[in-house]
Parts: sequence; C-alpha cells; structure tokens
Amino acid sequence: MPRTIKFLFEDNSIPDQTCQAIDGDSVLDVALDHGIELHHNCGAVCACSTCHVYIENGMDSLPEITDKEEDFIDRAINPTLNSRLACQCKITEDLVVKIPDQRQFNGH
Ligand code: FES
Repeated sequence: MPRTIKFLFEDNSIPDQTCQAIDGDSVLDVALDHGIELHHNCGAVCACSTCHVYIENGMDSLPEITDKEEDFIDRAINPTLNSRLACQCKITEDLVVKIPDQRQFNGH
C-alpha cells in the first residue's frame, strides 16, 4: 500500500517534506531515498543511536520497540517518549516524523 510520510525538521531552516513510501520500507529508507540527511552510522542494524527520530504521529502503527532499540535510544541526544530509531520503524501507516538537527553530528 502506498503511504505518506511527512518529515518535519528540528533545524527550522529546512522546510517540511512529504514523501511517498510503501509498506515495509523503514523510515530511514524513505528519508535517504528522498535525499533527507539522517545519520545511520551502524548501517541500519540497531547498533547505534544516530538514526534517532521523533514520531509525531502514527507511533501505534510501528513495530513494538525492542530492548535493544530502547538501549540505543537512551544514548541518543534528547530522547523523549516519541523517540524511535528510524531504521527499526517499518511503515504500515502514514506517519509524521521529526528529524533531529543533524548538525549535532558534524561538530557544529
Ligand atoms: S542506523 Fe544505527 S540504529 Fe539505526
């Protein structure tokens, strides 16, 4: 099924972006396919915290969070109850996702 993912950005110099996705894509896949900068240092195997995102809408549709994912979220910058790792979020519904400011990984 075609889905719509709306990306919002903590860095407010970047405009919101609405992207098409299909069931089974991860949020990370969709971001990268659309040229959205989102770090993914471990290569999408749930072994880092750099793909951390905030799910603003649609959290209930995502796969349940594993202990491993939760551990890495704890190490992310400013985690909240809406935090997930984008590589672990397989899409089955429309979502609204906020991308943390990626400049925090670039030493700015
Ligand atoms: S890319 Fe490392 S946990 Fe998602």
